[in-house]
Amino acid sequence: MESQARSVRITYPINHQKTFLVTGGTGFLGSHLAVRLLAYGHRVFLLARGRKGDSAVARVRRLLDWFDVDDGTRSMLEVLEGEMAQPLLGLNEGDVQAVIGRVDEIVHCASDTSFSARKRDHVVRTNIEGLQNLLEVVQEGRCRAFHLISTAYVAGMVSGVCREAFGDVEAFHNIYEETKFRAERIAADHCDQNGIVLYVHRPSIVYGDANSGRTLLFNALYYPIRTLNYFQRLYTRDIQENNGEKAQGMGVHMASDGTLYLPVRIESLDASGVNLVPVNHFVAAFMAIRKEKPEGGVFHIVNSRNTAIRQLVVYIRRFFQLSGIRIAEPDEFIKQPKNGLELLFENHIQVYGSYMRDSRVFENSRTAAILAGQDVVCPDFSYETFATCMRYAVDMDWGRRLYQEGDTGCAKKSLMDTKRSPHRKSAG
Ligand SMILES: NC(=O)c1ccc[n+]([C@@H]2O[C@H](COP(=O)([O-])OP(=O)(O)OC[C@H]3O[C@@H](n4cnc5c(N)ncnc54)[C@H](OP(=O)(O)O)[C@@H]3O)[C@@H](O)[C@H]2O)c1
Repeated sequence: MESQARSVRITYPINHQKTFLVTGGTGFLGSHLAVRLLAYGHRVFLLARGRKGDSAVARVRRLLDWFDVDDGTRSMLEVLEGEMAQPLLGLNEGDVQAVIGRVDEIVHCASDTSFSARKRDHVVRTNIEGLQNLLEVVQEGRCRAFHLISTAYVAGMVSGVCREAFGDVEAFHNIYEETKFRAERIAADHCDQNGIVLYVHRPSIVYGDANSGRTLLFNALYYPIRTLNYFQRLYTRDIQENNGEKAQGMGVHMASDGTLYLPVRIESLDASGVNLVPVNHFVAAFMAIRKEKPEGGVFHIVNSRNTAIRQLVVYIRRFFQLSGIRIAEPDEFIKQPKNGLELLFENHIQVYGSYMRDSRVFENSRTAAILAGQDVVCPDFSYETFATCMRYAVDMDWGRRLYQEGDTGCAKKSLMDTKRSPHRKSAG
């Protein structure tokens, strides 16, 4: 299996060097794709925005440190400070012209990934209006290939097999799925009318690198586990430091070997599972599809086997030394209502609830054929993979220690500020 190299250097400059615009450059998938494109010798414009006093350039520089990207490679990247929700992406005139005049391919990763109904307006603004703003800029330019990073979950509220094609969907679990579905249609119409090749990449749930466990995002797969780990730390401290009164009140106790009993039934179905893809596979699959399919299409970047929730629970119990956690069918909660800890857990993971009862299966025959031809294989989600990812997550305190010394993989590099425009900067 092709895996993400720990240290990123230009491996081989290729004759077919292209210029890419990658949106969502500070995100999990956008940064991984951008770094891989750089490693292949391409030029990359990275659309990113500042946050909490950190400029877009400073944020990208920190990410490049995390990836251990060398100076030569960094010089192939320029940061465009922008905001999807603004007309012309909030770019200044010079940057708009750079996108129009120089970009050959676009990789659109920027997205509001919130599932919460309360954030509906925000999600629509980024995922729909943002896409329209991007397409408006692209329309004028030389770009002939548009990679839309969508999601396998555009399938919506269905059961059974989800086809690797555009289809009709009547209902969605949340605003995220709905806007991602609508975005596919908007991009398809636009690309069709403007002679642009559209690639719709639909990953399922992406977790960290299968070999190292490294990740930049601790949501989706990680979030429910992080919640259980939070309970574990809370009640262990209570038992060890405060006579365990709170723990007792919740029915939590500790065995003599240190195993913590957490009475949590996770509402699920026996057949439920999650479809998990490591980020190194996602990146390798993206590159393989791009190379093999000049005519574009819809591609399910998924695992051919779901991981049963029941199996995940076994992994969680073993890795974290927990007992008492198990899955239970909805009927059981009628006979025996949820206890305090279960209500707390449910409250924490509310937005993921429907995914705990998911039995959708993603057909991937087109993508599988491409990947097989290039020896790109999605690994099984084994206990070893799970443990590697959880070790990294715990080491990084679920993201809080992500950029601290020791995880950057290299000495911090100074910013080579080439100031071609107020917004366009090298993150070298
Ligand atoms: N990760 C997965 O498991 C997964 C699975 C299926 C599909 N996907 C899709 O993959 C793509 C990337 O997701 P991800 O996991 O990388 O998520 P992520 O880490 O949350 O990244 C989202 C990126 O979008 C940017 N963004 C959001 N709103 C923006 C706005 N209004 N203007 C400019 N930039 C904006 C974010 O910028 P800030 O950093 O400034 O917020 C961030 O760089 C998304 O389209 C998502 O739907 C992801």
